[in-house]
Amino acid sequence: MAVTAVVGCQWGDEGKGKVVDILSARADVVARYQGGPNAGHTVVVAGDQTILHQIPSGILHDRTVCCLGNGVVIDPHTFFQEMEELTDRGISVKNRLWISPQAHVIMPYHRAIDEASEAAAGNRKIGTTGRGIGPAYTDKYNRTGMRVADLLAPDFEERFHRAIEAKNRILVELYKASPLDERLVLEEFLRFREQLKPFAKDVSVVIYDAIRNKKNVILEGAQGTLLDIDHGTYPYVTSSNPTAGMAATGTGIGPRHIDQVLGVFKAYTTRVGNGPFPTEIMGDLQTSFREWGGEYGATTGRSRRCGWLDLVIAKYAARINSLDGWIITKLDVLSHLDEIKVCTSYKYKGQIIEHFPSESWILKAVEPVYVTVKGWSKDISGIREYGQLPVNCRNYLDYITEFTGVKINMVSVGPDRDAVIQFR
Ligand code: GDP
Ligand code: IMO
Ligand code: MG
Repeated sequence: MAVTAVVGCQWGDEGKGKVVDILSARADVVARYQGGPNAGHTVVVAGDQTILHQIPSGILHDRTVCCLGNGVVIDPHTFFQEMEELTDRGISVKNRLWISPQAHVIMPYHRAIDEASEAAAGNRKIGTTGRGIGPAYTDKYNRTGMRVADLLAPDFEERFHRAIEAKNRILVELYKASPLDERLVLEEFLRFREQLKPFAKDVSVVIYDAIRNKKNVILEGAQGTLLDIDHGTYPYVTSSNPTAGMAATGTGIGPRHIDQVLGVFKAYTTRVGNGPFPTEIMGDLQTSFREWGGEYGATTGRSRRCGWLDLVIAKYAARINSLDGWIITKLDVLSHLDEIKVCTSYKYKGQIIEHFPSESWILKAVEPVYVTVKGWSKDISGIREYGQLPVNCRNYLDYITEFTGVKINMVSVGPDRDAVIQFR
């Protein structure tokens, strides 16, 4: 397995948590490289569900070392909450969970500004998760952020004072919102500082040592290719790079150390939050999809928008991420249908578009061109061998491979860890 990057290839929620958990059975190190508690990665083991937001999805395997790389943004509030929930369930993170000192911290003013700016944007809002992601990355790139290292530094209180004073002015003067209580926030962060100390470690060195010792490493993406700040449906994106290139930058290893990139792709499409979505289904069928697939956000509980499989997106994601293999998830959800639509190109002003466009006004106006394929109308959730799948189901999978030129490594047919078909 060596070093494997696992990336989401649609608008997030493809089932990355489940996939990383499965691969972690053979992994020594699992590292997140971007995003923060906007992620909600679900792992189900024998019916028991765990939702991870910041801690890598490898944590349920007690032998695995888990890391949060420099590219991640960390909210100590939710981080310690998540850790406690794991500890309560008998999962210890002691001496196997490390945070890069270079990772940026999501401060309470980041969350407040995220909420206030979304409220102020009215119907132009992005529909963020409200976790302070955009404002924390804004500060990172503006060179005014607070890294874990800065939280631990002797001049932390001084930096903190400068930062909160500036942010309170933004909250009060720009957004007409309430300011944060500097003293209360400081007290809380002085506590977090002590609590975070034992977790700070140079993640780049941890991963590099693992690579040198021929260990297996997983780089776990959050969000998905179309939420990428550079390659996604801007401005309806997140503020980081979920695509494979960031897996190196966000953990502090060189790009040539990544041996393979696996793309997680749902057998249909979903999106939570606003923005263009060419194959979105409207009406009753959307509601049925949502029920069949349990399409409600793992972080915010919001209803996910649902649509048909979009192979223009698949081809795009294969290119942007240099995919070696697909992991197709939620194939079982399509068992309810007699006929399934698959989008193979878009039409814009009478012209066929084969490549995913970056112009938002084009993407908003395109008409998906569909082929209709026969469904299999049979429960496949108990199947564990490719050869046992109904022929129409195999044809559906083969079509994805033919169209994108990327082979399939694994197919998921249910939420549980065991509901999987491994390809040889
Ligand atoms: P992630 O953010 O990519 O990790 O995905 P989420 O956890 O947000 O959403 C995926 C949802 O689908 C979760 O509720 C999973 O338990 C569930 N899931 C994952 N794989 C499958 C599958 O193959 N079939 C079904 N029916 N559910 C799945
Ligand atoms: P996982 O890792 C699905 C979406 C939000 C919003 C946009 C920006 O579970 O796949 P943000 O809070 O990041 O500033 O919101 O991105 N979004 C996700 N959608 N899955 C996620 O993560 C997401 N993380 C953010 O809904 O549209
Ligand atoms: Mg999710």
